[in-house]
This record gives sequence, C-alpha cells and structure tokens, in this order.
Amino acid sequence: MMAAGLPESASTIAPRVDHLFYAVAGVTSAVGIAIFALIIIFGIRYRAESKAPRPEPSPETQARTRRNIEIVWTVTPLLLFLTAFAWAARIYVERASAPPDAMEVFVVAKQWMWKLQHPGGQREIDELHVPRGRAVKLVMTSQDVIHSFYVPAFRLKQDVLPGRYTEMWFVATTAGRFHLFCAEYCGTDHAHMGGDVVVMEPAAFDQWLNEHRGAADMATRGEMLFRQYGCSGCHGQNATVHAPNLAGIFGKPVPLSDGTTVIADERYIRDSILLPRKEVAAGYPPIMPSFAGQIEEDDILDLIAYVKSLAPTQERPR
Ligand code: CUA
Repeated sequence: MMAAGLPESASTIAPRVDHLFYAVAGVTSAVGIAIFALIIIFGIRYRAESKAPRPEPSPETQARTRRNIEIVWTVTPLLLFLTAFAWAARIYVERASAPPDAMEVFVVAKQWMWKLQHPGGQREIDELHVPRGRAVKLVMTSQDVIHSFYVPAFRLKQDVLPGRYTEMWFVATTAGRFHLFCAEYCGTDHAHMGGDVVVMEPAAFDQWLNEHRGAADMATRGEMLFRQYGCSGCHGQNATVHAPNLAGIFGKPVPLSDGTTVIADERYIRDSILLPRKEVAAGYPPIMPSFAGQIEEDDILDLIAYVKSLAPTQERPR
C-alpha cells in the first residue's frame, strides 16, 4: 500500500507509525495555519488607519479574559501532547518487545557490510530473506563502529552498537524486495552500506532455507568452536576443572559472587566470554581467561547458539 508522500508500507507496524505521523503532522499544520491566518486577518483589520472598533474592556473583564485564555492555551496543548505521547508510547512499547515465538536472525555490522546468519546456518551478506506474515527478531551487534539498521518500508530503524546486542522485530506484510540502509554515519563507504530485505511467501522461504543450508547450523558450529577455543576443557561434561555447567543455563537466573543475580541471556554469555571478571558466578573461582580480541562477533553468536541449544527444555535448533 503506497501512502501519499511516504515510502511503501510493508510491515504490520508501518501503517500505525504512518497514522501517528499523519495525526501529528495534521494537528501541527492546523495550529500553524490558524496562527498565520490570524496574523494576516488581524494585521489587515487592525492596521493603523483602520476604523475597526477598539473598545476598552473593564479591568475585571480584562483579568477574567486573561485568566481564561491562560487556562485554554495551557490545557489544550497539554492534552494534545499527552495524547501524542500515549499514542507513540504504545507503538514504541510494542516495537520494543518481540513475541517469544519470533524467528531469530543474527546480524553483525562491519565497515561496510551487513552479515546475517539464520539459526540453521544460512549466511547472507547485504541481503536478508524473511517469510511474509511471521514475526522475525533481529539480534544485532557491530564489529567496529556504530551502524544503524534501517528499513524504510518497515518504518523501523535501530542502532547497531559494538560491545552489545540490540534487537528489532517485525512482521512483513508484503512479499517483495525492500531497501535496507545504514542510517548512522560510519566512515568512508557509509552511503554504500546497504542491501535488501527480501520478503518471501512462507513456502518459498522454507525452500530458500533448504537450498541455502550451510555446512552446519549455528549451534553445531558453536559446538566446534566450543572445543576449538578450549571451552570444553573446563565447561565440558567430563571436565576436571570446577567451572559452571552450561546445560540449561540459558534464560535462567545466575547468582553472582557479589550477591546479585543476572539472567543468562545473550548479553551475559557474550560478556562472560570477553569480560569474564565482570560477573563471576557464585561459588566459582575467577579463573576464566578473557577471549577479548580473539573471537569474531559471528563466532560468539555461534557459541551463544550452542549454549542455548544445551537447554534441556529446548529443542536443539536444526
Ligand atoms: Cu554503517 Cu553507516
């Protein structure tokens, strides 16, 4: 659906963002037009040589009128702004919380490309294939500077930062090819950093997934890396070193040595690999070495996928 003056609209949130945009633009335009119209009308009617009546109201009338005017022009904008705020906050909150059954795609930004990986191991560069009508959640990080993942047709833009994960989710409503931009100045080739989001019918998407299956899915690659980097030496089932067992840890609270508790999410696992002294699990000596500077962001995502797959309640992603 093409809205006047706006880019194509191809996600469930897009029309809602557009309605808010039109409402705010409409109200501010109406106020702006009314003010300019009054300036012109009063300028002509009460110009210096005009004979328009200029009665002097009594002091009581003046005081009452002033008070009423003050109330009206304080309360009216307040209500307008609060309405816009509540409306926008509803969209924002929905935008910020992905449904739990959303399909995940992992994004690593770098100067100057988008690297994307599906849980099944399918990898893409500057192109993201997604099914129509299904919630897709992007878990994003950057290998160097700040980038921003921007799909105008979805009305979504999210900064992608080094050293942390940001998320964005959407349900695409129209099959087709939609341009993806980098919306944060990130160096020489910023203007060329982009690509396409390709929205496919669900059956065609499943076929695409099958045809682009990699050598291994993310969890399997993560398992290989887990051995390669020596993680299994301490965290493995038969390890002699006293290190936390990772099976079933994902999504669970972890008590820390400082008495606080954190949820073992993507962020926690990433920080445990790169900054192991930051949050030491209670009851364990702080002997884990840091892997900062030794592991690529994509490999960390694979390791996280592996730890996730160890959850006894969760099925191993295939
Ligand atoms: Cu990446 Cu601009």
